Amino acid sequence: MKPDTISLLDEFVDLEPEIESFQDALLRGLSAKQKYLPCKFFYDETGSELFNQICELDEYYVTRTENRILEENAIEISRIIGRGCNLFELGSGSSRKVKILLDVLESPAGYTALDISKEHLIKSCAELSSIYPGIPIGAICTDYSKSLVFPFKSSEANNTVVFFPGSSLGNFDTENAIKFLGRVANLLKGSEGGFLIGIDLKKDREVLEAAYDDSDGVTAKFNLNLLIRANKELNANFDVSKFFHRALYNHKKGRIEMHLVSRISQIVSIGSNSFEFFENEYIHTENSYKYSLSQFEKMWREAGFNSSRHWCDLKEYFSVHYLKL
Ligand code: AVJ
Repeated sequence: MKPDTISLLDEFVDLEPEIESFQDALLRGLSAKQKYLPCKFFYDETGSELFNQICELDEYYVTRTENRILEENAIEISRIIGRGCNLFELGSGSSRKVKILLDVLESPAGYTALDISKEHLIKSCAELSSIYPGIPIGAICTDYSKSLVFPFKSSEANNTVVFFPGSSLGNFDTENAIKFLGRVANLLKGSEGGFLIGIDLKKDREVLEAAYDDSDGVTAKFNLNLLIRANKELNANFDVSKFFHRALYNHKKGRIEMHLVSRISQIVSIGSNSFEFFENEYIHTENSYKYSLSQFEKMWREAGFNSSRHWCDLKEYFSVHYLKL
């Protein structure tokens, strides 16, 4: 990391999870009866790049639709947020969407990005601070699913707004999603601010499955990159050609599931550990829950929020909500 890139930022806090956590997670996940791996490990440098490509795909309506909702309602959203907000973004990735807000917000007090992918985070925030020289930009490298602490001074906390776009809440199962909403609600206590969050809505299976299994194979690469990452970082010997990507909508659970399926019966080693795969046995790598508007309303009420405004596209594929205590 070039130190001059970091120095462009007003504040950088490094709570990057240890590499061991990937190792622990993989060893634990592959030892389970149903093999699994938490989806946060998708986002190494290559994975973050591939995710950016996913966001541009025709089939992946999520990003495009949410951007349009934010753009079309930006003025109204900024009016509801009000002057001088202190904006935090969870899982900021390339910090592209927040530009829509930063372009219209009235004298924001600052913007702080939280993301697990350090290089990507610093690069994106350095770029932002050159585009918005008047706005203090900070970055925190952290796993927001583990700890959610914002290092703000109490004087700045009176209009705290948390931005969580992209429907990443869908990565939690519903019970943990409600807990997570509750943690954000707690953080917002004593603030005039709110929680601006994108939620993907239930829709036809064909549309959903195409969004997570695109015809260019970018999502397949994104999923298989986990195995490449394990080979690089953990001395594993996955033969990537012996696995394939699968995305299925689980109707009963209301979620897209991504799997890495073993084409054959095989043994893979990770360092000194080895794991057996049967033909068609799979690693469950991601859940992406889809909600109806009424299901989501039940969730935010249970988490302690009391009011909301929301905006949708015409097809009601996606929704953006501003939740307040
Ligand atoms: C970043 C979690 C919102 O679930 O749609 C995209 C991740 N995975 N394609 C999603 C993802 C495969 C994405 N989130």
